[in-house]
Amino acid sequence: MKVLVTGAAGFIGFHVCHRLAASQKCEVLGVDNLNAYASLELKRARLVELEKQDGFRFVQADFADAPAFAGLQENFRPDYIVHLGAQTGVRYSLENPAAYVHSNLVGFASVLEAARRRPPKHLVFASSSSVYGADARVPFREDDDAGRPLSFYAATKKADEAMAYSYAHTHGLNLTGLRFFTVYGPWGRPDMTPLLFARAIRDGTPLRLFNYGRYQRDFTYVDDIVDGVLKVLLHPFVGAAGEPTTPPWRIFNVGHQQPVEMRRFVQILESLLGRPANVELLPPLPTEMPATCADLTRIHAAVGYEPKVTLEDGLRRFVDWFQRHDRPA
Ligand SMILES: NC(=O)c1ccc[n+]([C@@H]2O[C@H](COP(=O)([O-])OP(=O)(O)OC[C@H]3O[C@@H](n4cnc5c(N)ncnc54)[C@H](O)[C@@H]3O)[C@@H](O)[C@H]2O)c1
Repeated sequence: MKVLVTGAAGFIGFHVCHRLAASQKCEVLGVDNLNAYASLELKRARLVELEKQDGFRFVQADFADAPAFAGLQENFRPDYIVHLGAQTGVRYSLENPAAYVHSNLVGFASVLEAARRRPPKHLVFASSSSVYGADARVPFREDDDAGRPLSFYAATKKADEAMAYSYAHTHGLNLTGLRFFTVYGPWGRPDMTPLLFARAIRDGTPLRLFNYGRYQRDFTYVDDIVDGVLKVLLHPFVGAAGEPTTPPWRIFNVGHQQPVEMRRFVQILESLLGRPANVELLPPLPTEMPATCADLTRIHAAVGYEPKVTLEDGLRRFVDWFQRHDRPA
């Protein structure tokens, strides 16, 4: 089967492509524009790993360039599309909202339009737990009201879900949005806490804990995320008999359902790295939710998703990668 993966040089895209190509059952086309956000060096290093796999091919392209992306899609003729490319980062959306308009709104519209012209069996796209915003009550359920996003990043992800609904409704495209919960693991992003914190502990630099370390996050190991993506991808929407008007559109949480306080997260990292952190306790940030926690009832019922990797085990694997690959600046 042929799978087109956007954001292939990014953290989650890398892991999805790697798993698909390693299965030796897929032809994988990875697309990424290799922008400089969250380390071009790391994106290139991920691609070097991916290009060791026979079933993987890479094209550098911007999916917001509608004719170029439609051409790629038309030539490759994917059975499935996994759309993971996006402008990521919650805090950066305060500084550069235009980047989010470009990749997450214009870019997603371009991906949807290319898929409409030549529909894959299923298009799975990344949303985010951050859509739950100010209305959130833990654990977060997919049918909770999520109308008040706390950051522009979250607003664009919520807009993607609505854009997808309209394409499912008007064109019958089979679309599923996945709300990922704080993903971590080897090859992770340098703008996210696991790598930021591991570097700070190794280098003895200040480690900033907002909300005095009391934020709770539902950290989800990247292999569990990949399991969720692939289980969902291979189970497109099937409407119930007698409901031909139901649009083939779904939203699922993909998380761990075991939130941890950031103070505890730092303690585990300290013990794995064998060094104390130089912690700076700071007040809450306006873009951050006090706690995140996925309710996994819906995805479990639909495709049997169950996260398997404990935080201690996942952080051990992350630190093992970190110590082998991340050199001090
Ligand atoms: N990592 C997490 O904890 C997390 C949590 C919730 C949601 N998500 C979502 O999951 C997806 C993957 O996240 P990630 O952590 O791998 O992010 P990432 O930033 O590592 O990867 C995104 C990739 O998309 C590429 N990209 C951006 N705009 C592009 C464009 N216009 N054309 C082509 N390529 C483009 C980037 O170069 C990057 O390599 C994103 O949609 C993100 O919003 C991630």
